[in-house]
Amino acid sequence: MKSKLLEKLFSLQGKNALITGGYRGIGRIIAETYAELGANVAIVARNREKCELAASELAQKYGGKAIGLPLNVRDAKMADSIVGQIADTFGGIDILINNAGIAGAEKEIVRMSDEEIDEIMNINFRGCFIMARAVARIMIKQQSGKIINMASILGKIAARNMAGYCASKGAVIQLTRVLALELAHNNIQVNTLCPGYFSSDINREFFASEKGREFIKRMIPVNRPGELSELKSTAIYLATCPAFLTGTEIYIDGGHTIF
Ligand SMILES: NC(=O)c1ccc[n+]([C@@H]2O[C@H](COP(=O)([O-])OP(=O)(O)OC[C@H]3O[C@@H](n4cnc5c(N)ncnc54)[C@H](OP(=O)(O)O)[C@@H]3O)[C@@H](O)[C@H]2O)c1
Repeated sequence: MKSKLLEKLFSLQGKNALITGGYRGIGRIIAETYAELGANVAIVARNREKCELAASELAQKYGGKAIGLPLNVRDAKMADSIVGQIADTFGGIDILINNAGIAGAEKEIVRMSDEEIDEIMNINFRGCFIMARAVARIMIKQQSGKIINMASILGKIAARNMAGYCASKGAVIQLTRVLALELAHNNIQVNTLCPGYFSSDINREFFASEKGREFIKRMIPVNRPGELSELKSTAIYLATCPAFLTGTEIYIDGGHTIF
């Protein structure tokens, strides 16, 4: 960074970041951004090979430390053990991006099974809780840290056939508030990032279709889905925010939640 002020405010040099679901999509763009700014990055998800590959690519490209480890965020014992391993390897954890999540099948509530609601709540909400708890225990010892929980605009507004997703993300927003309250006196800031619709491999075809274009026109004031690169500056801000910024959520959604 050229400017001393920018460096003072936004440097991630030597910080240790843990990113769940960090080998692709939103998690990957945040992992890339932090690594580029000099952070050491740990990437965890269920697919061991993809985590290891992403970590070796980041280490090669940006020169910092990067590790990839297998972890299912539903498994509390595994989470405690992997988080401990990462803290030992890096010498602490400064930033948690609690990003792992699934969309779940689109179904009306009356057609949803017990298993379907359990699955999405277990990964999106319980997984987020398990990871935040494991990392918070380390951050309390350090008396510093930033936890960024990934919710969605659908934690605030409703969408038909998405009850599990909406409820799980609403729960993440409330979890953030309680965590922020409990951890404020430990100099740990906890905030939620709420993305709107971003283009990805999964939805690119939909957004290019007649139905997709109509949806965008009706629902997104900027008239397009987001690009993943548009999340970078907000992710940096939340990882470097002042102690006074805690317990809140930031929407980055092209104006979707204005309505
Ligand atoms: N894309 C959007 O437009 C959008 C909008 C709003 C919010 N979000 C939220 O942003 C986050 C990332 O979304 P994305 O679109 O980037 O998703 P994505 O491309 O599907 O990536 C999800 C990541 O989470 C990991 N994951 C899923 N279940 C896991 C589990 N049980 N344990 C550990 N890792 C797990 C996946 O790896 P494995 O399968 O190998 O475990 C993958 O790396 C999600 O929480 C999503 O709800 C996305």
